[in-house]
Amino acid sequence: MKLSVSFLSSFYSKELTIKKIEETNADYLHVDLMDGGFVPQKNFNINDTLTLLNNHKLPLDIHLMVFDPLIYIQDLATLKPSIITFHLEATKDIVKTISLIKNNNIKVGLAINPDTNLLEIMPYLPLIDLVLVMSVTPGAGGQPFIEASTNRLQELFNYRQDNNLNYLIEVDGGINQDTINKVINADIIVSGSYICKSTNYQEQINKLKNNIQK
Ligand code: DX5
Ligand code: ZN
Repeated sequence: MKLSVSFLSSFYSKELTIKKIEETNADYLHVDLMDGGFVPQKNFNINDTLTLLNNHKLPLDIHLMVFDPLIYIQDLATLKPSIITFHLEATKDIVKTISLIKNNNIKVGLAINPDTNLLEIMPYLPLIDLVLVMSVTPGAGGQPFIEASTNRLQELFNYRQDNNLNYLIEVDGGINQDTINKVINADIIVSGSYICKSTNYQEQINKLKNNIQK
């Protein structure tokens, strides 16, 4: 299981938070970008984001919570991210967006909100590299884990096996030392405030990892 750390909610500035995450053994830096339309919060403009992440050291796992993902992809591609994920609910141009991300040699992820029927993502599973299961309503850090997410992860895990597919499964929202065992079917887990609303990031990461009971 890989760990992707979100710097959305932190005690420190974005710059310092990223630096502190990069000093840990996290696997990815999870970048939450919100446009104030798809979710009520707006937290970026593209030029500031490119500057902020220009010298990133960890592989980037970009999570777009925006209505029009197509308009950001060429700019974000200049950061050479590992993964760009956009929301199933956000756009009618799903196949076109998948192709544009893939054509830039970036892994493509599709995210699904907690209240969207899992059946809606099924047609796209053969086309994508990763499915991101939202275990909170997107928009803010620090929300409680939605328990029904565990079954959704299990269904996606079984579906992958039964259909010989190879997408990765990622989960995002409300992950801490108490909920980590509810998401062991995920390949990548995102954790934000549990890590970044502390003063010792590595210690929190160790607690997460040590609490996994296989
Ligand atoms: C929620 C974001 C998450 C968030 C996770 O909209 O997509 O990545 O930062 O934060 P925690 O771990 O605090 O739920
Ligand atoms: Zn996220």
